Amino acid sequence: MTDQLSSEPASKAKFSHQQSLFKRFKRLSPYFFTQKGAWALAILATAIAAATEPLIPAAFKLLLDRGFQKGSLEIWQVPATILTIFAIRGVAGYVTELVLTNITASGLQQLRRQMFDKLLTAKLDLFKNQSGSELANTVVYEVQNGSMLLVNSIISFVRDSVTLIALVGYLLYLNWKLTLVVAIIFPGVALVMVVLTKRLYKLSKSSQVATDELAYVVEENVLAHRDVRLHHAQEQQAERFSHISQRLKSLSIKTTSASAAMKPATQMMAAIALSAVISIALFQSNTSGTTVGAFTSFVMTMLLVVAPIKHLSEIANPITRGLAAIERGFDLLDQTPSETYGSFNSNRSTGHIEIKDVTVQFSPNLEPAVKQLSLTIQPGETIALVGASGSGKTTLVNLLPRFIQSNSGSIELDNVDIKDWDLDNLRQQFAMVSQHVYMLNASLAHNVALGQKIDQDKVWECLKAANLEDFVSELPLGIHTLVGHNANQLSGGQRQRLAIARALYKNAPILILDEATSALDTQSERAVQSALTVLMKNRTSLVIAHRLSTVEHADRIVVMEAGSIIEIGSHAELITQNGAYAKLYRLGLGESHAA
Ligand SMILES: Nc1ncnc2c1ncn2[C@@H]1O[C@H](COP(=O)(O)OP(=O)(O)OP(=O)(O)O)[C@@H](O)[C@H]1O
Ligand SMILES: [Mg+2]
Repeated sequence: MTDQLSSEPASKAKFSHQQSLFKRFKRLSPYFFTQKGAWALAILATAIAAATEPLIPAAFKLLLDRGFQKGSLEIWQVPATILTIFAIRGVAGYVTELVLTNITASGLQQLRRQMFDKLLTAKLDLFKNQSGSELANTVVYEVQNGSMLLVNSIISFVRDSVTLIALVGYLLYLNWKLTLVVAIIFPGVALVMVVLTKRLYKLSKSSQVATDELAYVVEENVLAHRDVRLHHAQEQQAERFSHISQRLKSLSIKTTSASAAMKPATQMMAAIALSAVISIALFQSNTSGTTVGAFTSFVMTMLLVVAPIKHLSEIANPITRGLAAIERGFDLLDQTPSETYGSFNSNRSTGHIEIKDVTVQFSPNLEPAVKQLSLTIQPGETIALVGASGSGKTTLVNLLPRFIQSNSGSIELDNVDIKDWDLDNLRQQFAMVSQHVYMLNASLAHNVALGQKIDQDKVWECLKAANLEDFVSELPLGIHTLVGHNANQLSGGQRQRLAIARALYKNAPILILDEATSALDTQSERAVQSALTVLMKNRTSLVIAHRLSTVEHADRIVVMEAGSIIEIGSHAELITQNGAYAKLYRLGLGESHAA
């Protein structure tokens, strides 16, 4: 039961990329590999730092062999050597870090900007298919984690390879026979590590999924906190939560058991290698006279070799994860179609709209929401759309600014197909107060003047016309008051009036009102209605309203049913006709008179 409820959060890395590693890296190059100079500097600095690795055991050899024999080494030379080595490493490390951060940050900035631009221009289907949190996760977190993982693993690949080559070279130089003996033992260590690492990776992947699920349960319960309490579903939710956290607990114990075993296992292997080396070295010193310094230095170097080998054996993992994360971002860029722009431009359209035989079907197994509908709207005309819930009114008006596409038929504005209009220019022709207006978390003035420069006098004028002036002038900050997330700090009716003020401010030639006054009480509605009546003058207007008293004065009333127009005419004509509208009106009148 609980399992059905916990619908899995978007599983990451679900895209199986069949391209070669080379191609995948090539896709990254415009963002992360254009700064050739910076990369050269980072690699050079890393290589220099890595090459100093054998210098420490070498210094010890020198110290042990000659330092403790009087007169053969000046005392100052010892600290000077050690300090020099560490200074070189310090500077090189610092430079690398700085340059890499620079490369990552600028690539990331560019990539994120492009992704955000994509969000602003993508076909609107994107927002049907992906949730806000998924998109935010991709744009904000995934690409950042991915690029950091990738850039860091590239540089650690360079560092560890150079370190390894330098150290092994030094080992061979010191004692090639002994080195060969060690080389035989090492694969064993590597094997243990690989097996344990694989298990660890699997476990951490499962923990990741479980953590995501746990976070999802929390998120859902935060959003639905009122419903959960009202329906007394706390116990159900608590059980769902503890079910997942129980799984997390057992995963974390398994993870610890695998990672804790790693240390003793590798130490045991190292001990075996060390004992072998010491025995052989002792045997060799009897026969060929290896020095104490050379021996100590050899053991030190041998221990230093472990780290780069370990890192190199694990390098595939962060690269795979990093690529998968960044590719989520590339998928957004490459596989999301953008809206198509036409080229027709007009300063101000006359508002002549011609809808010809338009059909909209949201999916093949659904009835069309709009069925072969035709309607001509004259410039300056006020058209009211009425009809039962679900009859297709919102769908019809959403076609005009191309928020949705029709499956067949065409729509012309000023005798030009809306597909041929420049899209930005087309949308400039419409002011819209829709059923779901979204307010930005900014000041009232910013929300009213959205997309335009804020003219304070004009903002006040629009607020006044929307019957919001009294409310706003009582706020300590006036029009500079922040409205909070989606204007949640306003009441439903205040939000609706704010949306009306926004539409007034835009002053577009065509006005679309979709239940624009539904959240208002009769008195405010009347006050706003007079502003809207002024606004509708000389403009083409489409008004959708359930309260028929508000549409009585429209030039023509269009009655819709199941996606088609069933009646059309003025209020008086339709009442005389005594059809569907007359019936609706009688019902509606009774309701509004009682209210
Ligand atoms: N994005 C969508 N995907 C699938 N179906 C949709 C979508 N939007 C609307 N519909 C369906 O299309 C039909 C018409 O919806 P529409 O929103 O146009 O109705 P409406 O007349 O505005 O209703 P209301 O008066 O309740 O606002 C409905 O059956 C609805 O379920
Ligand atoms: Mg609607």
